[in-house]
Amino acid sequence: MNILVTGGAGFIGSHVVRLFVEKYPNYLIFNLDALTYAGNLENLKDIEDKSNYTFLKGDITDEVFISSIFEAYKFDRVIHLAAESHVDRSIKDPLAFVKTNVIGSMILLNAFKNTWKDDFNNKLFYHISTDEVYGTLGEAGLFTEKTSYNPNSPYSASKASSDHFVRAYGETYNLPYLITNCSNNYGQNQFPEKLIPLFINNIINNKSLPVYGDGNYTRDWLYVIDHARAIDLIFHKGTIGETYNIGGFNEWKNIDLVKLLCKQMDYKLNRPEGTSQKLIAYVKDRPGHDLRYAIDASKINKELGWKPSVTFEEGLSLTIDWYLNNEDWLKNVTSGEYQKYYQKQYN
Ligand code: NAD
Ligand code: TYD
Repeated sequence: MNILVTGGAGFIGSHVVRLFVEKYPNYLIFNLDALTYAGNLENLKDIEDKSNYTFLKGDITDEVFISSIFEAYKFDRVIHLAAESHVDRSIKDPLAFVKTNVIGSMILLNAFKNTWKDDFNNKLFYHISTDEVYGTLGEAGLFTEKTSYNPNSPYSASKASSDHFVRAYGETYNLPYLITNCSNNYGQNQFPEKLIPLFINNIINNKSLPVYGDGNYTRDWLYVIDHARAIDLIFHKGTIGETYNIGGFNEWKNIDLVKLLCKQMDYKLNRPEGTSQKLIAYVKDRPGHDLRYAIDASKINKELGWKPSVTFEEGLSLTIDWYLNNEDWLKNVTSGEYQKYYQKQYN
């Protein structure tokens, strides 16, 4: 089986690539990535020499290139993760999100459809999406697979749009698809623009911790390796044409999460308890900030038996340890362009 993973040099993609390369020596895994600021081949150093792994550098918006690789490798299955993925960046440059997340997804769908035409036997287009397509919850309730889409940020609107196109290709062309909508991931190799790695890096460097608004926004956090396990399970056992929500059963208000992170960091850095918490600074809120995300993951739990394997405290501790032990990785990704982004975003 030839499997194309897009965005495999990014955060979640690299964990998916590693899992598939190591667990399924008979599958040929092709990792297609444009290596944007978020893509990093260092994430896959340990598996880059495996015989069932190939890296292809390229952009999913490049139609000629995408048709040429489908022509050359006849991918039986696609796991599509490549995306612009950060809400704050989508607020500054929405069009970049339409280009990659909507048009890039369309180009992949077309290449897949044109390769297999009407013979989709044992083929699959698996689209990785987010719970943010559902919009925001109030204090109560959970997102189920039946919750209607109501995206509020350019990022979530672009992901919602690509989800709709995938579904539409299923209805119109019988294209065999799966979509999963997952909650906030955290773990090793996440680019330090997202809350947890950004704050870990700032604590290491004694820089302030910019909490947006009053900090009472809530997210449901899932350890990235548990997300990769869920993707593996759904890839093999999911019902074609279905969508599945994936979540951590693990809601945290941002400010409570940040306080837990500060406590664990003080302990690991041998700093007196309370040191890191003094770095917290409440800053201007994000426009259109969704109040609360929370996933009802009972479908994947009941149908496929999946549940998270680590508690949040364990996962967070593993994550911090990884960043503390991979200082070079962190230094490399926070030099150059990152400094400019940081200045612009946090001024
Ligand atoms: P990421 O930003 O860490 O990685 C994205 C990867 O895609 C990078 O390697 C980048 O180089 C590549 N890429 C970007 N534009 C590309 C293009 N035009 N052509 C080819 N490659 C391109 O993102 P992530 O956090 O790993 O997210 C992966 C997927 O999972 C995304 O589709 C995202 O919407 C979804 N998702 C993320 C989360 C989360 O919490 N991070 C939660 C749910 C769903
Ligand atoms: P983020 O990691 O960007 O993920 P998402 O916006 O996709 O949920 O943000 C998680 C939460 O943390 C969100 O409520 C915004 C908040 N946040 C801050 O308070 N400060 C920050 O510097 C960042 C990046 C996020």
